[in-house]
Amino acid sequence: MHKVIYDTDPGVDDAMALLFLHRHPNIDLLGVTTVFGNASVDTTTRNALFLKREWNIPCPVARGASVTFDPSRQERPWPTMVHGHNGLGDIAVPETIDLPTDPRPAYQFIIDTVRANPGEVTLVAVGRMTNLALAVKHDPEIASLVKGVVIMGGNFYVPGNVSPVAEANIHGDPEAADFVVKAPWKVVVVGLDVTSVTTMSRSYLTDMAKEGGPSVQLLADLSQSYIDFYKHAVEDGMMVHDSCACVYVVAPELFDTIEGSMRVVCGGIADGQTIIKPDGRRFPPGDWDHLPSQIACTGIRSQQVLDLIRDVILGKVKH
Ligand code: BDR
Ligand code: CA
Repeated sequence: MHKVIYDTDPGVDDAMALLFLHRHPNIDLLGVTTVFGNASVDTTTRNALFLKREWNIPCPVARGASVTFDPSRQERPWPTMVHGHNGLGDIAVPETIDLPTDPRPAYQFIIDTVRANPGEVTLVAVGRMTNLALAVKHDPEIASLVKGVVIMGGNFYVPGNVSPVAEANIHGDPEAADFVVKAPWKVVVVGLDVTSVTTMSRSYLTDMAKEGGPSVQLLADLSQSYIDFYKHAVEDGMMVHDSCACVYVVAPELFDTIEGSMRVVCGGIADGQTIIKPDGRRFPPGDWDHLPSQIACTGIRSQQVLDLIRDVILGKVKH
């Protein structure tokens, strides 16, 4: 079993990834932690509670960061053109959900849960890296107590999606991401290099919903305007960014990877750019020296990933 804490800003593609984690028979979802990003943290937390209720997800939801790791950063407008004004494609979602959140802030929930399960927890972060950065800043020892960290974010050899060089989750809090990739834990970066080529068509999702009933129909409904948004880049389909990171946890063999030390550019025209110094490449002394070697995904078997997402969501994957 893979014990997972899912750090997320739901978010349309976040929602699909949540259902994947919940339904995978070899994943034990210990908690959902929320972060601002696709919408305010009030909204992403409400959305997490809504999805928990609709999909009968038993694990706790802990509310996370509402501002960047460096609070002096200027907040930017929410990406309503991507995820809608309510973060879930503007389907009808109640203003409030009558379910409690965990009393702890997300970073404390992460610390406590990792400490209670030493060597066993994988942190899967698919929003801004703020909660992870806060957790490892407050309790640096958790870096050696987690099993691993898998993040959706960044781009190494392809363009960004919010600037020519930066991807949204990293660009939304570059200082947090830089802190996370420099920490002495093993980080796997599942970025646009692999997620931008992993697209699910509208008809594939429609077929899933027909087979999966109301729970998958909800996923299809909340994804429709997100698919519309992607028409500039995808033919009647959508990038399933966050699900790719979750698939890595259970099927890393579907990815090609390289290893090296990483940094995130903080400020200037390349704000939020992720850069890897591949292991074995020699450069004069610089800012990538004496840092942990992390893993970057550079290739993906997209069709197999999509089919696995579908089969898990439809309950066809057994232990
Ligand atoms: C990432 O940004 C958000 O819009 C998505 O949920 C995903 O996590 C893709 O760049
Ligand atoms: Ca996300």
